[in-house]
Amino acid sequence: MDALIIEGPARLKGSVSISGSKNTALPLLFTSLLFDREVTFSNVPRLWDIETTLKLLETMGVTSHWDKEQGEISIMPTVIHKVAPYEWVRRMRAGILALGPLVARYGEAKVSLPGGCAIGARPVNYHLEAMRKMGVSVEVEEGYVKARLKGSLKGAHISFPQVTVTGTENLLILAAVAEGNSVIENAAREPEVVALGELLIRCGARMSGLGTSLIEVQGSTTLRHPEGKIVIPSDRIETGTWISIAAATRSELILQNVEIDQMGSVIRAFESMGVRFHLMAESRALRVEPADHYHPVDIETAPYPGFPTDMQAQLLTALCLAEGKSRVRENIFENRFMHVAELHRMGARITIHENEAIVEGPVTLQGAPIMATDLRASASLVVAGLCAQGRTKISRIYHLDRGYQRLDRKLNQVGAHIERVKEDS
Ligand code: EPU
Repeated sequence: MDALIIEGPARLKGSVSISGSKNTALPLLFTSLLFDREVTFSNVPRLWDIETTLKLLETMGVTSHWDKEQGEISIMPTVIHKVAPYEWVRRMRAGILALGPLVARYGEAKVSLPGGCAIGARPVNYHLEAMRKMGVSVEVEEGYVKARLKGSLKGAHISFPQVTVTGTENLLILAAVAEGNSVIENAAREPEVVALGELLIRCGARMSGLGTSLIEVQGSTTLRHPEGKIVIPSDRIETGTWISIAAATRSELILQNVEIDQMGSVIRAFESMGVRFHLMAESRALRVEPADHYHPVDIETAPYPGFPTDMQAQLLTALCLAEGKSRVRENIFENRFMHVAELHRMGARITIHENEAIVEGPVTLQGAPIMATDLRASASLVVAGLCAQGRTKISRIYHLDRGYQRLDRKLNQVGAHIERVKEDS
């Protein structure tokens, strides 16, 4: 297993290119199961979760070619087994995204239940209840969701009790091919859902309301092959993570390939701390300017366009530098403060009351041996290690590699001192 050794404090300078979006690439790769010819994706990030997705698809009989240097993946979706096994889904919850495309195309699927993870229980009951409403028989047996279509897939009126990103994604695919119209109420408005909807529209699907919480889908579409490459947009959470790095290390950085329209709530949060942003004339580049003094903030996570739960840990770390008491409420996942115990080991003053973290600052974090527990927690610990005095060793860094393309290399290119070492598991 790899660990990172970070020598802090880092002072960074230069520009960084943001990679393709993980949470857009994953549903789009699974969507290739809908087609009968090769589908090609570009700007695909080089991540473990992408590797896991291709391995999972391989167990179904699908072949793929990944040109890692070019960031291109071609998938030949020849499905033999309509099964997503536990072995792969347990490594990456997004495996549940195989369910919608398999049922839409073949009328059946057996997909392992993902189980909980370090950030919460993460059930998939909303996906399953919505599918039942569309006429799919869904049983959970021996840890697997067994879905089989009885007759034809029927459009339905679905109202999600809570916003679910992957739930909306699975449903959009099913609704596009179902007989009749569907309405998805309380749909996720995330850019990742919009990207999937736009791909379906490119393939002939008819829908309105993408990017709003009410999506109407006119079904009965035989989806045609997308033709041409499917380009993955850049990652809004990686962009936010770099904003947090710039703020915490008080470094001016230029971020390139930014989807600026998707960054509103993150930019507003860091602006209220005192960070300044300049959109540069050069297309899609954002200059991030730190400040000498930061203000505390009061913020809560919410579905898009609210402040993303996937940025909560990275913001929390930067808030250790703010002068005063900040409050951060986590409203999406019940157990997403695992990074706090590690930050305590570095001298942070954070208390947790139910779903609220109170951060008292400013503190100068001290380097320490710490442990990564999940993907975004790992990113927040990298932010902490970069602004801490002395040496930080972060173990179990594989979590980071699931969702950030070569973060340590990118950091070293702008002046950080990070070494990747092997350690016993
Ligand atoms: N929920 C249920 N039942 C369901 C579905 C969701 O109770 O059937 C609950 C969840 O437990 C959670 C809330 O609803 O409390 C929202 O969960 P959601 O379904 O939106 O999460 P997800 O689709 O599993 C995606 C991202 C996550 C991101 C969340 C929230 C992908 C592959 N994953 O997960 O990304 O945190 O939306 O925005 O798109 C990450 O990248 O680090 C990550 C965890």
